[in-house]
Amino acid sequence: MKFDLNNILRTNIKNLVPYSSARDEFQGEASVFLDANENSFGSPLDTPYNRYPDPLQYVVKKRLSEIKGVPPQNIFLGNGSDEAIDILFRAFCRPGIDNVITLPPTYGMYEVSANINDVAVKKVPLTVNYQLNLEGIAEAIDPNTKIIFICSPNNPTANSLYREDIETVLANFQGLVVIDEAYINYSKQKTFIQELTEYSNLVILQTLSKAWGLAGLRIGMAFASEEIIGVFNKVKPPYNINQASQELALDALNNVEKVNEWIRETIQQRETLSAQLMLMPFVEKIYPSDANFILVKTTNARAIYEFLVQHGIIVRDRSKVILCEGCLRITIGTPEENTILSETLKKFQD
Ligand SMILES: Cc1ncc(COP(=O)(O)O)c(C=O)c1O
Repeated sequence: MKFDLNNILRTNIKNLVPYSSARDEFQGEASVFLDANENSFGSPLDTPYNRYPDPLQYVVKKRLSEIKGVPPQNIFLGNGSDEAIDILFRAFCRPGIDNVITLPPTYGMYEVSANINDVAVKKVPLTVNYQLNLEGIAEAIDPNTKIIFICSPNNPTANSLYREDIETVLANFQGLVVIDEAYINYSKQKTFIQELTEYSNLVILQTLSKAWGLAGLRIGMAFASEEIIGVFNKVKPPYNINQASQELALDALNNVEKVNEWIRETIQQRETLSAQLMLMPFVEKIYPSDANFILVKTTNARAIYEFLVQHGIIVRDRSKVILCEGCLRITIGTPEENTILSETLKKFQD
């Protein structure tokens, strides 16, 4: 059976007449704008922000389209990836009826967003090697399963999932397959963006919060068919990316060189820090990382976490998370920060 978006779209969204903003209704050049009840005098700031921003962020998308090699009409921008995740639930999942599949241990927002939207979550844990359990996924799918969330490279395990396994899910599932590529810039795996023409049920999430260093601007991206992006645009708040974020994102997107330099340095630092940590007696294992963090299995995660807090260093204790017993998740910092971390850890007595 071929994937048909209309089979999974909620009826209220199919029938929805979206809000039509002043900026939707007139987009040409004019000298006097009296259509949006803005303050025509300006803003009490050096830079004026008295006008509403472009609802569809065309200039930013055009630049992203050049970088990512995908047309602007296949791109959605959200207030962080979290907005894109929330819209997926609201557009495709009927509260109290439908369900989604998550693959723990993984990024926590899929489940939180499901709970907010009263959508059931079926959990199919990864294998002990942190790869997809394809049989388990096939068994968990039922006629009301709308979305499968796959995070690759995965948070918190840091590894990429096998591409062939992801393709198996894409080819066999009749709902949406969301591949969260928040950490793709650090990965040896290539993005699935080029597969959009192959799979009409594919949604890829990326973000400017990680390698691009813009977590404070809140810009997440979804890449999908024009039809799916149309649904996102119908459901999103009219002006979901503010003017300052759009302008700053555009400036940043014109500075790819700097970002690539940081990616190279982060990967190098990841290897250096991992080698140093491996020498410490309380480190049992460091899992292979394709991201800007490492998952470190220790003999006493809580005690190490608290010891680091006492020294003003904060890492993430993941030891209570399924398949992550004894594990700390450590973000790769600057060379100075990584040195402070390893020098401090050398003083830890188990
Ligand atoms: C896998 C994954 N996806 C998405 C996000 C959030 O991205 P954003 O800042 O764009 O909401 C994170 C943040 O930690 C993440 O780990």
